[in-house]
Amino acid sequence: MDKIVSAPIEAYCRQHTAPLSPVLETLIAATHAQTTAPQMLSGHLEGTLLRFLVQLTHAHHVLEIGTFTGFSALAMAEGLPPDGRIITCDVNPESTAIAREHWAQSPHGHKIELRLAPALDTLASLSGPFDLVFIDADKANYGAYWEAVLPKVRPGGLIAVDNVLWSGRVLDPQAASDKAIVAFNHQAAADTRVETLMLSIRDGLLLARKRLDGQ
Ligand SMILES: C[S@@+](CC[C@H](N)C(=O)[O-])C[C@H]1O[C@@H](n2cnc3c(N)ncnc32)[C@H](O)[C@@H]1O
Repeated sequence: MDKIVSAPIEAYCRQHTAPLSPVLETLIAATHAQTTAPQMLSGHLEGTLLRFLVQLTHAHHVLEIGTFTGFSALAMAEGLPPDGRIITCDVNPESTAIAREHWAQSPHGHKIELRLAPALDTLASLSGPFDLVFIDADKANYGAYWEAVLPKVRPGGLIAVDNVLWSGRVLDPQAASDKAIVAFNHQAAADTRVETLMLSIRDGLLLARKRLDGQ
């Protein structure tokens, strides 16, 4: 993956960001040792941003689409109050076994509930309302995830969507995945139910705040 932010700047930002919990550090190491695509893990800066968003919005009910090895779910769980809950969706039993193993080592792991099924099926069974939703799964379904979750986000709630810069390929879309991200970004920016803010952190993170009168 081409980096949007240069490696030295990324390292400088990490040096000036609160350290990760020991479990999250161990989870990063396990993901590199045991999976073939460790770059899917959102990492120190984005994980810390997600935890901050949970804390700043006083979220109690969080939904995640795309668990992988459970890094972002645990980072967000660390920001939830003791009675807060996060539902996280994935289809991969191998990567989520690594997730479960590490969640069990954290005092925040009990806040996480894994749903192992195609996310669109899981979403159809959930009523919400959610304070915060993090979308980070198969890019072709981003538009469908958006439409499925937005009615289940509380007014004033937040949706965060990962990889919206897609290594910069949004500027010259060629592959189907490039075009899917470009189409999604257009869909979100044109949606009057939300206000959007696109951040160039890591591979691009779109924040969308549902308007108080958004349906
Ligand atoms: C980029 S990874 C998630 C990374 C994770 N959020 C983190 O920051 O550590 C994307 C995940 O989406 C999952 N995924 C792909 N298609 C899916 C689907 N239809 N439903 C649910 N999860 C899916 C993959 O199995 C993969 O684990």
